[in-house]
Amino acid sequence: MYQIPAEIVAAVDSLLAEMTLEEKLGQMSMSVGAEITAIGGSGTGAPIEQSIREGRVGATIQVAPPLEMARRIRELQRIAVEESRLGIPLLFCQDVIHGFETVFPIPLAQACSFDPRRVREVSAVAAAEAGSCGIMLTFAPMADLVRDPRWGRAAESFGEDPYLASIFARATTEGFQGEDLRRNGGIAACIKHYIGYGAAEGGRDYNTAEIGETTLRNYYLPPFAACVAADIASVMPSFNVIDGIPMTANKRLLSGLLREELGFEGVMISDYTAVTELIAHGVAADEAEAAEKAVSAGVDIEMTSACFLGNLRASIEKGVVKESVVDDAVRRILSLKHRLGIMKDPYKFLREDAFAAKVYSAPHLKSSRELAIRSCVLLKNDGILPIDEGQRVALIGPFGDSADLCGCWSFSTRREETCTIARALTQRGVTVDVCAGCDIDVPIPGGIEKAVNLAAQSDVILLALGEPSVDSGEASSRMDLELPAVQRDLANALIALGKPIALILTNGRPLLLDWFDRHMNAILEIWAPGSEGGAAVAELLLGKESPTGKLAMSFPRHMGQIPVYYNALPTGRPWREGDSNRFLSQYIDGPNAPLYPFGFGLTYTSFACGGLTLSRDVLHANTEITAGITLSNTGARAGEETVQLYIRDESASVSRPVKELKGFQKITLSPGERAEVSFRITEEMLRFYRTDGVYTSEPGIFEVMIGTSSADADLLRGRFLFKED
Ligand code: BGC
Repeated sequence: MYQIPAEIVAAVDSLLAEMTLEEKLGQMSMSVGAEITAIGGSGTGAPIEQSIREGRVGATIQVAPPLEMARRIRELQRIAVEESRLGIPLLFCQDVIHGFETVFPIPLAQACSFDPRRVREVSAVAAAEAGSCGIMLTFAPMADLVRDPRWGRAAESFGEDPYLASIFARATTEGFQGEDLRRNGGIAACIKHYIGYGAAEGGRDYNTAEIGETTLRNYYLPPFAACVAADIASVMPSFNVIDGIPMTANKRLLSGLLREELGFEGVMISDYTAVTELIAHGVAADEAEAAEKAVSAGVDIEMTSACFLGNLRASIEKGVVKESVVDDAVRRILSLKHRLGIMKDPYKFLREDAFAAKVYSAPHLKSSRELAIRSCVLLKNDGILPIDEGQRVALIGPFGDSADLCGCWSFSTRREETCTIARALTQRGVTVDVCAGCDIDVPIPGGIEKAVNLAAQSDVILLALGEPSVDSGEASSRMDLELPAVQRDLANALIALGKPIALILTNGRPLLLDWFDRHMNAILEIWAPGSEGGAAVAELLLGKESPTGKLAMSFPRHMGQIPVYYNALPTGRPWREGDSNRFLSQYIDGPNAPLYPFGFGLTYTSFACGGLTLSRDVLHANTEITAGITLSNTGARAGEETVQLYIRDESASVSRPVKELKGFQKITLSPGERAEVSFRITEEMLRFYRTDGVYTSEPGIFEVMIGTSSADADLLRGRFLFKED
């Protein structure tokens, strides 16, 4: 873990000794830096320049076109350093979620790559781009576990699995921060939203979450713990309530679990106006009480509201808040500024000279394209994909020639340059007839007829449907996950032609695809693939690359199944195939299973798994078991499979999930080739939180499952006994 060097501790203490209470509270305030007036952060409505001079702002959240933003940051930093009494540099922050000028696939898509190495790489690219314009901290990764696709922020998540989310949150953090924030070009990461935000009831953003303690620890906590272990610089508490207490005021979970138990020593940054929102939540009567509760819970920086600045002096004077609490917060903030190297070189991050060479460069676009290729998931294919370059293609649908492929949370000024699917296919020599047929949710007069006439001339129809970028992300919850009726009408009219038809779907969350699954010959899920989305999709459609993505989130078959996720707890009356007993945990009007399960994804060849072996049938605490299978490429093309390891603890002091992902490997094989694929199983992989909060393993029988998705039918099974001695 990162240890604050002794000389920094001493430097921070001596600076703290010089600070007035006002200046300390200023360090704890984050303002909106692009505005003329410091919103909230100044607490006075004064121009931000004046607030900075007076030491009443410590950080800003900044969004503007890159070079304009760099100029603004340089100027604000100059004022902080040269014109404020103590010259403490400001911390400049932004939501760099999946790229800066070069946009990468949305995080949910990134998780589907099952390729953390590439995600680490693109996060480093994002840090380099944003950093060169003065951004020092990004509000990412978002590691909220999501089981409800109605929640628009599923797009920003790594899906439904704690292990996968931990791996990707950690890879993203390592990519952003690099090995040592002081030395290299990394920027600070801020994991969010701690904790349970993804469990918003009804999938409605900002809503209450009801999560039991062992569920919270075993499912929702792991990505946060992984990033604390990776020395993440900061954490953002979530907007939601857990068990009656909003997270911004949740001392037990912020100071208790995160700081004391997990050892988090970094900076805690509130979410946007979340401190003031404690009033609306009904746990604070006024801003003074909101400030007291948030700071006492462990929040160090208040984002864009001014409760700290306006009220903590009085609270300290009244003895309601101890000044030592404020001092501790300021120590953490100043330590981060040291860790970032800005106390020595406040302009360290401003590298406008490197901007043109670094930002939206060919190598960055290439890494975006490569990750996009690996993030797409082939959900169905009866053999029509890949298409043949010589075929005449009708590209129909509102997303066929659309540059709206960047997804939510992308402020890139280059979005309009995004390579569309139509352009990419044409550039690759394919004869493409393009017709939208309809808008995203409204008809175009005569559009469907025109599309049908065009498609009638083609050999194959590519139908590009989906959701626009604004339909996912923050404040984008949906209650209906069907594609808009007009898109379905378009699909229906095309099906009547009887031609081979592939759905190319762009979206930020699992949608309801049951009807499409029954009527399309192929379905390629491309998510919001980023700046090079069109090129990536064209490479896949033409078979120059093969799809390798696997779902990080289950696709429900029906709205009524939500939440549907693979790692559920068993019930006392589990549903069993072929069992006619009515009194089982099941629906009487449809199946329990999702349409496409977690871990599922096809490619252009086929694979078979066989012969599961365990090197021994008893595991002792300091030994390991090797579990292996034989993977064969049974198709006619080379391809890559993601072999997945799941484990189930059959009996423990708390009910454990029916399966939990514990490992995966990507294996490439030529047609007819076979490979032995093995996983090490150790005691550590069996640990979980008990109801007493102890993180441990318990002896007993464990089931091992290895295969190509989380679906029972795709898994081979074995069992072993774990003994503690
Ligand atoms: C979001 C955060 C984001 C912050 C700053 C909030 O509304 O919940 O995820 O980092 O705004 O933009």
